[in-house]
Amino acid sequence: KRVAVLISGGGSNMLALAKACEQADFPAEIVAVFSDKPEAGGLAKARELGIAAQAFPRKAYADKAAHEAAILAALDAVQPDLICLAGYMRLLSPDFIRPYQGRILNIHPSLLPLFPGLHTHQRALDAGMKLAGCTVHFVTEGMDEGPIVTQAAVPILPTDTADSLAARVLTVEHRSYPLALTLVAEGRVRMTADGKVERSAFA
Ligand code: GRF
Repeated sequence: KRVAVLISGGGSNMLALAKACEQADFPAEIVAVFSDKPEAGGLAKARELGIAAQAFPRKAYADKAAHEAAILAALDAVQPDLICLAGYMRLLSPDFIRPYQGRILNIHPSLLPLFPGLHTHQRALDAGMKLAGCTVHFVTEGMDEGPIVTQAAVPILPTDTADSLAARVLTVEHRSYPLALTLVAEGRVRMTADGKVERSAFA
């Protein structure tokens, strides 16, 4: 399967996906990395791996629709089967999602439906949680609420800060996203028209 990855920052999840794709029998290849931030460190990492990488600076476009249209045109040129949002910090509009319905994944650094949105690690600490983790889900029009593909949990330690917890969650994000991509690329997990996850017997 051809995969386009959208990033806004360091791209450690994109890197984890790229490393997984390098395995001989991995069922996906990354054909492009796009970012809304020209300074995103992940763009350079993608280029080092020989992956086409392009920035679409939001301020270069009149409005959100024009920004998304430029990214959609670039996506159309590479014909991805799947899109992976990996630290992409913008909400996609329904017009963006529609042509890729059921084919966009996102990784979120919490055990959804707990803590959608931002600052998930501090919120987990403030709530006295003993577990934290990440979720890979299909992207739907609402924020961080699409059907779940994979989740992974980590313990919260009494000494944790948001930063130490974020670092621990990142380690399981980098295992969870390649697994989720494998399941979806192999058709073992799919999103149905009514927005449910359907798993085949051996998923
Ligand atoms: C990660 O915690 C990811 O879950 C969130 O953005 C953070 C940075 O991701 N979406 P990356 O290192 O840019 O992949």
